[in-house]
This record gives sequence, structure tokens and C-alpha cells, in this order.
Amino acid sequence: MEPRVVLVTGASRGLGREVAERLLEDGWRVHAAYRAEARGTELEERFGAGRAHRADVLQADDCASLVQGVLDAEGRLDALVHAVGEFHQGPTSASTAEDCRWMLESNYVSAVALLGAARPALRASAGAAVLFGTAGLEGMQARTTTAAYTAAKSALRVWMRAVAHEEAPHGVRVNMVSPGVIPHAHSADDTHDPATVAGIPAGRVGRPDEVAAAVSWLLSQQASHVLGQDLAVAGGWLL
Ligand SMILES: NC(=O)c1ccc[n+]([C@@H]2O[C@H](COP(=O)([O-])OP(=O)(O)OC[C@H]3O[C@@H](n4cnc5c(N)ncnc54)[C@H](OP(=O)(O)O)[C@@H]3O)[C@@H](O)[C@H]2O)c1
Repeated sequence: MEPRVVLVTGASRGLGREVAERLLEDGWRVHAAYRAEARGTELEERFGAGRAHRADVLQADDCASLVQGVLDAEGRLDALVHAVGEFHQGPTSASTAEDCRWMLESNYVSAVALLGAARPALRASAGAAVLFGTAGLEGMQARTTTAAYTAAKSALRVWMRAVAHEEAPHGVRVNMVSPGVIPHAHSADDTHDPATVAGIPAGRVGRPDEVAAAVSWLLSQQASHVLGQDLAVAGGWLL
């Protein structure tokens, strides 16, 4: 069988990188998107010539050329994993309108632009998409230290359900994975905060490979009837 083609954003580091590595292991042909110029050579060496793409996903034109670059190389796209989503910490009194706009652009509008660009190709392949949320959105709890970020992720979650509903008749499955507290070499300071960690019922933080395993499953045939879901990988944090 021909290998399936996946585009992973945020693939230069952190959870996006872990997902890209896991999907490579699973047998996918992985196209890795990155922003920082310095990462291109290493990503090409790892994922293959022509499979590392530089793009700023805050720019709709970059999203379109990113998807087009994969289609030019492969002629198809079977899956999209959008792991970009920057973080802003602070109470509402310290979150400016500009901070909120940035959070919305990075976490929500980028997904709209990217999925919009990928939609025809995903329909053609009856493919799948996984977006990145954050754990604990369903309760609409006050998130006093991350209000701008969680508001943007909440917008993404509501939009994800709408697009999943809309794409289902075309054979496309759209889901979300929502990490809890997952430290890695570049993660936000709060992933190392003992008070946060003490609030995780499983008694420990999560590992990047546990998030990647969830994405792998959501893209697999085992999840062929799963769509519009927000799968938390959070050890019960914020349940
Ligand atoms: N880690 C956690 O505990 C946690 C918890 C809840 C949710 N999440 C979510 O999981 C996802 C991944 O988190 P992470 O911890 O791996 O994040 P991260 O370490 O901050 O990595 C972010 C990645 O996104 C890329 N990126 C950021 N802005 C971009 C832009 N405008 N255009 C293109 N690429 C851009 C970065 O690329 P460059 O390196 O090239 O700049 C980097 O590869 C995010 O959506 C985050 O909100 C993470």
C-alpha cells in the first residue's frame, strides 16, 4: 500500500515534533512545517528531502503555500496535524487586546486558514485532521491565569465541532487532542510548577509520547468512526 501523507505543523520541537516522529514510526510520509529558519536542514535530514517546509501559520498565504508544497511533492494529502498554538500567561487584568488577538490568531485563526487550504485535498483522500486544544475546556471554568489562551482554545474547540460536522459527509474526520501538563525542553514554565502538578489526579505530568500516541490513534483506522471529539491526555487534570 502507498504510504499515507501527513502534514504536521509545529514539527520543529515540542509536541509537534513528537507527533511527527511517532507518525514516521507508524509508516506515514511526514511533511514537517517549521517557522524558525535554523531548523530546515535538520528537519530535511530527518524527514527527507523536500519534506520540511518553512511557513508562518499566522499568514494565510503561507498556509496556502504550505499545503500546496505538500501537494506538489506528493500529489495527495491524507492528514493534517496542527500543533502550533502559542501560550500567554496572566490574569485578564494583564491581558491586553493585543495579547488576546495574538492568542486567537495563533491558536484559532491559523487552524481556520490551514484547514481551509487543506480541505479539498482531505476531501479527495477522505482524510483526517487533528487540532490541538488544551485540557479542561468543557467545564467553562474560570481560568484565572491563562484567560486569553484558554478563550482562544475554546473558540477553536467550538469551531472544530462545527467543521467536523460539516466535513463528515465528505468522509473527512476532524478531532482535537487536548494535552494537560506536558513538560518538554521548550514548554512553558507552568508545566514545571509544583502546585499545578499537585493538582493532577494521576499524580504525575504527562509525556510527549503519550500525546503523540493519542494523535496516532485518532488518525488510525481504529478511530474511523470518531469525529468532532476533544480527547484529553491529561491524567485527569481539570476534570
Ligand atoms: N506542552 C503542554 O503542556 C501543552 C498543554 C496544553 C496544550 N498544549 C498545546 O499543544 C501544542 C504544542 O505545544 P508545545 O508545548 O509543543 O508548544 P511549543 O514548544 O511552544 O512549540 C510550538 C511550535 O509551534 C511553532 N510555531 C509557533 N508559532 C508559529 C507560527 N506562527 N508559524 C509556524 N510555526 C509556529 C514553533 O516553531 P518554531 O520553533 O520554528 O518557532 C514550535 O515548533 C500547542 O497548541 C499548545 O497550545 C501544550
